[in-house]
Amino acid sequence: MHKAEFVVVANRLPVDRVSDAGEGEWRRSPGGLVTALEPVMKKADGAWVGWAGQPDVDLDPFEFDGTMLVPVTLSAEDVELYYEGFSNDTIWPLYHDVIAEPRYKRVWWESYVRVNRRFAQAAADAAEPGATVWVQDYQLQLVPRMLRDLRPDLVIGYFHHIPFPAYGLYSQLPWRRQVLEGLLGADVIGFQRVADAGNFARAVRRQLRYETKASGIVVPEKDGTTRRALAKAFPISIDATSYIELAHRDDVQARAREIRESLGNPKRIFLGVDRLDYTKGIRHRLKAFGELLTDEKLSVDDVTLVQVASPSRERVAAYIQLRDEIELTVGRINGDFDTMGHTAIRYLHQAYPREEMVALFLAADVMLVTALRDGMNLVAKEYVASRVDNRGVLILSEFAGAADELGTALRVNPHDIEGLKEAMMRAVEMAPAEQGRRMRAARRRVLEHSVEDWSREFLEALAQFHGAGRSGV
Ligand code: G6P
Repeated sequence: MHKAEFVVVANRLPVDRVSDAGEGEWRRSPGGLVTALEPVMKKADGAWVGWAGQPDVDLDPFEFDGTMLVPVTLSAEDVELYYEGFSNDTIWPLYHDVIAEPRYKRVWWESYVRVNRRFAQAAADAAEPGATVWVQDYQLQLVPRMLRDLRPDLVIGYFHHIPFPAYGLYSQLPWRRQVLEGLLGADVIGFQRVADAGNFARAVRRQLRYETKASGIVVPEKDGTTRRALAKAFPISIDATSYIELAHRDDVQARAREIRESLGNPKRIFLGVDRLDYTKGIRHRLKAFGELLTDEKLSVDDVTLVQVASPSRERVAAYIQLRDEIELTVGRINGDFDTMGHTAIRYLHQAYPREEMVALFLAADVMLVTALRDGMNLVAKEYVASRVDNRGVLILSEFAGAADELGTALRVNPHDIEGLKEAMMRAVEMAPAEQGRRMRAARRRVLEHSVEDWSREFLEALAQFHGAGRSGV
């Protein structure tokens, strides 16, 4: 196989299989990471190692849009134990501050080790001598160490897209030592927030007793030498230009008007857009909205909440339960408050293309991002980028990474339902001039730090630090 000088390793490949084409037809998946890395992949003769998203599908490496894709096969059992089990029923809830209870099972962990090894081997096989390999996210935390053992010549980076919890929580993990050691195989370990990098460094100090200096974490190697690893925040962003272009398009603006009309032209539209996940605070948002209707602060004649909840991890118990709860609540609120002409909540358990999302962002007066814990929350940035008219109000949870950057949003603690209600009323009543002032400042931040800046900054830091880290401590 042709060897690449730049390799991305992620749980998922950057493509989706177009289902009705029998012989395997692919299209680029809409995710932000894919857009972020496209320019680097093309420039650098890149390969992308990942899972094609279906169990038991064996595929040879193939080229797609100038990039070599290297599929890793997951059996139905791997999907159940490594993906649904350890990744999404142990690590995901634990790293999101145990909003749902993490479950710890040895068979899940054993599968996670096996599958991580398979990804590490595939990356080792795809990389040319001295190549740069960039490992992505919590599904693959052991890959950096495994890869370094297989290929000490490589430059290895890792980016953690989700939060890293405080040590008191992290220490619940029966395999806490192995996971830290796994991550420390990388030269640079990137996090969304300064607080995440701090939590990681503290866990390393307390669990492994390694020294952490401003110049990096001192990592002892088996041969008695030491190397350095850097843990640092690199907040991810979006491809802002593509949202701006869509927001300027006549058909997208016409669609935004059509959406408002289809809702009966309410005075104010609230919008929530999330994967249907318990970390997103959808229940808290519904509770606040329901209470404002009950208290007659708001009326369905004037306001509607549009809640897009895209299907996610549908076989994991906590997600099944969450869907039931949310749909019950939506049904109750609508049953109590809908009139023949107006609905309280328009609930959509679907995923939409980017054009439709931008039309929704343009139609919405108030965007609700009420995550209980979130690595970044790109929806907040997408809303801001789409508001080319400098209107609209973003209500943003302080527990989303985006809160570090979008200081002019209305900041909320979603656990404080009264506070959330106040912010919602303030948003509904906010004068256009104040909306404009806040939105312009938020847009400046998103436009001046786009996802291309994110990947460039990470990769520059990796190249620099690898050079420095090698020269000893
Ligand atoms: C989060 C994670 C990603 C993950 C995505 C979708 O954004 O950080 O790693 O790919 O959710 O979840 P899924 O389980 O469908 O890949």
